[in-house]
Amino acid sequence: MDTVLSGIRSTGNLHLGNYFGALRNFIRMQDENKCYFFIADIHSLTTHPDPKELHGNVKNVLVDYLAAGIDPEKSVIYIQSDVPEISELYLYLNMHAYMGELAKTSSFKEKARKQPENVNAGLLTYPTLMAADILIHNADKVPVGKDQEQHLEMTRKFARRFNNFYGVEYFKEPVAYNFGEQLIKIPGLDGSGKMGKSEGNAIYLADSPKEIEKKVKRALTDSGPTEPNSVKPDYIENLFTIMRVVSAPDVVQHYENKWNSCEMRYGDMKKQLAQDIINVTSPIRERILEIEKDDAYLRKVTQEGAEKARESAKKTIEAVRQIVGFKKF
Ligand code: TYM
Repeated sequence: MDTVLSGIRSTGNLHLGNYFGALRNFIRMQDENKCYFFIADIHSLTTHPDPKELHGNVKNVLVDYLAAGIDPEKSVIYIQSDVPEISELYLYLNMHAYMGELAKTSSFKEKARKQPENVNAGLLTYPTLMAADILIHNADKVPVGKDQEQHLEMTRKFARRFNNFYGVEYFKEPVAYNFGEQLIKIPGLDGSGKMGKSEGNAIYLADSPKEIEKKVKRALTDSGPTEPNSVKPDYIENLFTIMRVVSAPDVVQHYENKWNSCEMRYGDMKKQLAQDIINVTSPIRERILEIEKDDAYLRKVTQEGAEKARESAKKTIEAVRQIVGFKKF
């Protein structure tokens, strides 16, 4: 049995990228593996969220997880800040993480460009915190989207380096994972490469059918191809990419044929796409509206999750303390 772990930052509601990149894969793995899923609230501090909003954001993510199908009877669901052992492991791993390699990480360079007034040490060491999240349970597989691939490579490097430095075979080298497939990237509907919270181009699991229709309608298109079988521009390919994850294969093929024969009617395609997205999100949205009212349930889930996560995390920290040479008098 493999140990599977994944997490999402608590910076707002979950969108289709989070769902198809990470969450759905995780949900499919719950029955056959030891599964941990957590809410990365410490990670969210790197962008200095308003303390008054932090708890609400954590709640939104938690509710979306449960509504999407993460089952607390099968998986351990917890909030990162409820497990202090993660922060302790982060500290030890930082002693073996080097300025040069951290500063070269794509996510760091991108954030430093986006928030030049706040290039803090937490941003720089984001990959070590992420490695601590994963190594604290010695996970084998980490279901994530394509954008997290580099972080996983660094986690493997940190695990290997720790083992080599201390002459142990303690940490496993976890892999980024997508249930039987390549890692994926869900694009935005605005022609950009990636759907994201901060990109302002996301369709959320909690969006109403009306909002979804409106967003899909606004997606960038053009007057259609004039040459048969021509290459699609990126913003059109993006629509097809989303269609491939939400629609049936024959529906996708139908629009591929229309494209290839220059009979493309974007209005029809968008209507179909919006409907197929709504088919995925509306059962989740219904459960969101139920679960968000049930504070007692959310308390129970997070308390039990924290207990189970700490049980596993404590074992790791005790072993790591021994390995680095801490001893009791
Ligand atoms: P975050 O919160 O940005 O995104 C959460 C998960 O959603 C995936 N994702 C996408 N996948 C495909 N297409 C997209 N457009 C898209 N947008 C987001 C991400 O790949 C991710 O899997 N650093 C992580 C959170 C984290 C974590 C961890 C993940 C912290 N510690 C340990 C796994 C294991 C992050 O910021 O993801």
